[in-house]
Amino acid sequence: MKDLTPAKDTLDPIEIASRDEISALQLDRLKWSLRHAYDNVPFYKQSFDEAGVHPDDLKQLSDLSRFPFTVKTDLRDNYPFGMFAVPRDQVARIHASSGTTGQPTVVGYTKDDLANWGQVVARSLRAAGMRPGDMLHNAYGYGLFTGGLGIHLGADALGLSTVPISGGMTPRQVRLIEDFAPKGITVTPSYALSILDEFAKQGIDPRQSSLEVGIFGAEPWTNAMRQEIEQAFDMHAVDIYGLSEVMGPGVSMECVETKDGLHIWEDHFYPEIINPETGAPVEDGEMGELVFTSLTKQAFPIIRYRTRDLTRLLAGTARSMRRMEKVTGRSDDMIILRGVNVFPTQIEEALMATPGLAPHFQIELSRPDRMDQMRVLCECADASVTTDARAAAIKALSAQIKQTVGISVTVEVMDVGGVARSEGKAVRILDNRPKG
Ligand code: DLL
Repeated sequence: MKDLTPAKDTLDPIEIASRDEISALQLDRLKWSLRHAYDNVPFYKQSFDEAGVHPDDLKQLSDLSRFPFTVKTDLRDNYPFGMFAVPRDQVARIHASSGTTGQPTVVGYTKDDLANWGQVVARSLRAAGMRPGDMLHNAYGYGLFTGGLGIHLGADALGLSTVPISGGMTPRQVRLIEDFAPKGITVTPSYALSILDEFAKQGIDPRQSSLEVGIFGAEPWTNAMRQEIEQAFDMHAVDIYGLSEVMGPGVSMECVETKDGLHIWEDHFYPEIINPETGAPVEDGEMGELVFTSLTKQAFPIIRYRTRDLTRLLAGTARSMRRMEKVTGRSDDMIILRGVNVFPTQIEEALMATPGLAPHFQIELSRPDRMDQMRVLCECADASVTTDARAAAIKALSAQIKQTVGISVTVEVMDVGGVARSEGKAVRILDNRPKG
C-alpha cells in the first residue's frame, strides 16, 4: 500500500494548532452557539429556563455540563422545522433520517453551514490521502441521507473529480471502478463487502483495481474488518464518522498515516463523554456515551446532543484535535442476552477470527421458552468449503464467541450468498422476540 500521508503545509492551520488555541476558539464559539440557540429556538429557551441556566452562565468550557441534554425525541417533537434557528427561506438544504423507527428527524443547513460542512469533509478526505484532482467513487446513498451529498460537498471543496454513483446496482459499481480507475471509494463497510463479492463474481481481482483508499463509515465496523478489507483490495481502509443531527459525515475522521481512532473536528463540534446512566461527564479515556454540541451551525444548532454512540476520547496524535476510539456500537443496538451485554461488533470480531467463513453476518434473536437466544447467521467463504469444514467453522465460531463474549449462541453457516446483502447500512439484528 502506498504512503498517502498529506504534506503538513496542506493541512488547515487549526488541525495542528496548540490545544490552547483550540480551546480559546471553542470557548468563543460555544458562547455564540448557546446564545444563538437560546435566542432563536423556543425549545432551547424553554429547556435552558427549566434547568435554570442562561447562555451568560458559560464562563469556561466545563460550564457546558450545567446545560440540559437534547435527545432524539426532542427533535421528533419539533417535527419538521421547530428546531431551526433561522427563517425558513435561509435554509439552503434539508436532510432527514430514514424514520424507520418513527417520525423522521429533519435537519437544515444555511449556505454558510454547507460551506463549513464541505470544509470538514474536505479535511477528512485529505486525511484519508485524497488530493486535489484525484478521482473519488462515492457510493454512499444520495438523497435525504447525509452520506452521498455530504461527501460530495467535501469532494468539491477539496477539488476531487467525483463519481456520484450512490448506492445500489452493484455490477455497475464494479464496472465503473474498472473503467474510470478512481483512487478512493466512499461507501459503508458492509456495502464494500457486497462490491467485493461482485468483483469475484465477475472474475476480476480487486487487488489489481486502481483503488488506494476506502473511506468507510455510517455504521460500526471493527479493526478485524479493516484488515479483511485492506487485504482483499490491497488498499488503505479508514474510518469516517458523523450523524445528521450534528452535521453528517465528517464530524470525525481517522488519519491514513496512523489509523488510531478518529480525530474530532473540534473547531466545529464540541465533544463530551457521559455516563449513560447518570448523565455525568467522565474523564477523557473513559468509555461512555458521546455527546456533541455544535459550535458554528446556524440553521440547526444542537446543544449537548446524546448520540447513543459508545466510545471514549483520547488525546490527539497526527492532529492536535482529540480522537474518539472506533465506535463500539449504539446503546440501542446493545443486546442484553441472559444478563450479558453484547454488541454486533463483538460478533464481527469473532467471525473474522474464524477460518472458512465470509465476513457477512446477521444476528437473530428469539425467545423460545421465555429464554432469549441468539443465532448467528453467516456463510461459507466460498463454494469449495466442505461439509466437514462447515461443521468445524460452526464449532470454532461458537467457541470463539463463548470465550470472548461469554455467551452461548447457535451458529448457522449458509451457502455463499445466504446472508442478506447491504447496499447502505447493514441490518445486523433480526429481533423475533415477542414485543412488549
Ligand atoms: O450515517 C452519516 C455518515 C454518512 C457518516 C457517511 C459516515 C459516512 P446518520 O444516518 O444520521 O448519519 O447515522 C448516524 O450512524 O450515530 C452512528 O450510530 C452511526 N455511525 C456513523 N458513522 C459511524 C462510524 C450518518 N464511522 C449514526 N462508526 C451514528 C460507527 C457510525 N458508527
